[in-house]
Amino acid sequence: MAGRYKSDLNWSDVTPKSVFMNRRQWMAGAGAAGLGAIASPALAQLNASPSAYSTDAPLNTLEEITNYNNFYEFGTGKEDPARYAGKMVTDPWTVKIDGLVDKPGDYGFDDIMKGVDLEERIYRLRCVEAWSMVVPWIGFELADLLNRVGVQPAGKYVAFETAVLPDVMPGLARGYLDWPYREGLRLDEAMNPLTILATGLYDEPMPNQNGAPLRLVVPWKYGFKSIKSIVRISVTETEPPTSWNMANAREYGFYSNVNPEVDHPRWSQATERKVGGGFFAKRVETQKFNGYGDQVASLYDGMDLRANF
Ligand code: MTE
Repeated sequence: MAGRYKSDLNWSDVTPKSVFMNRRQWMAGAGAAGLGAIASPALAQLNASPSAYSTDAPLNTLEEITNYNNFYEFGTGKEDPARYAGKMVTDPWTVKIDGLVDKPGDYGFDDIMKGVDLEERIYRLRCVEAWSMVVPWIGFELADLLNRVGVQPAGKYVAFETAVLPDVMPGLARGYLDWPYREGLRLDEAMNPLTILATGLYDEPMPNQNGAPLRLVVPWKYGFKSIKSIVRISVTETEPPTSWNMANAREYGFYSNVNPEVDHPRWSQATERKVGGGFFAKRVETQKFNGYGDQVASLYDGMDLRANF
């Protein structure tokens, strides 16, 4: 575990030179065209240095991150989101925040981003299907937003919903899941500093196929917890229903912490294949809590993680 995190990380340490140059050029180009970071709430006030939480694992390329996706509203093929999500209009965007909060309301994306200090967090996304990617997310802590709206003492869980846009989401007409896509976290998980709301990646506003304009990233859990294109955040007293658990409770639990010791009923979860490494690339052993155990294992003290999978 030690050594997976570096506090003195430079972009040039973790980014292939060509990508580093591209993102610098993108920043320069955006500035020259009058579309600088200031004009884009998704990238407003991006801190120059990445977070102490970031991993130093090699990054997947932007090409890989935006062409191999799960976003079932656009279809179940890994290339469907890249093919179809471009038609989703993400500006304006409103997020309803309700339930056990002091300041419920319909918040525009710009309101949510007001005063937010964005950071780059390099986190691995580990999918339940046993593939993984390392992504330089840009985002802020979910705790920030929850503290701004004020969680009431009775609040114990946070529920999330994705937009339902039948005109542009061909997958909605198929009954893969009961829409809207729903996810949830226990409040202490939601408040953990590793849990972020991401608004971009690689210094770009969030690509639609990755969940524009606002998606969750919960790096110690299987990827399906990281819900995309969020339109509702509710603080609740009881454990909220979640899409994959509703679809198949035997295979997908509420917690879904990455755990190589607990197999999915239809496949092993002990190893993973990094996307982009080629199909015959050596599989690597999956780490418990996706390698973030130091930060989150204590959340589950005393819990049986086989029963609470
Ligand atoms: N969010 C919504 N709304 N719909 C989805 O189908 N798929 C999940 C998650 N969030 C999904 C979603 C799954 S299974 C994974 S692995 C990640 O998104 C994939 O994120 P990525 O495409 O940005 O890598």
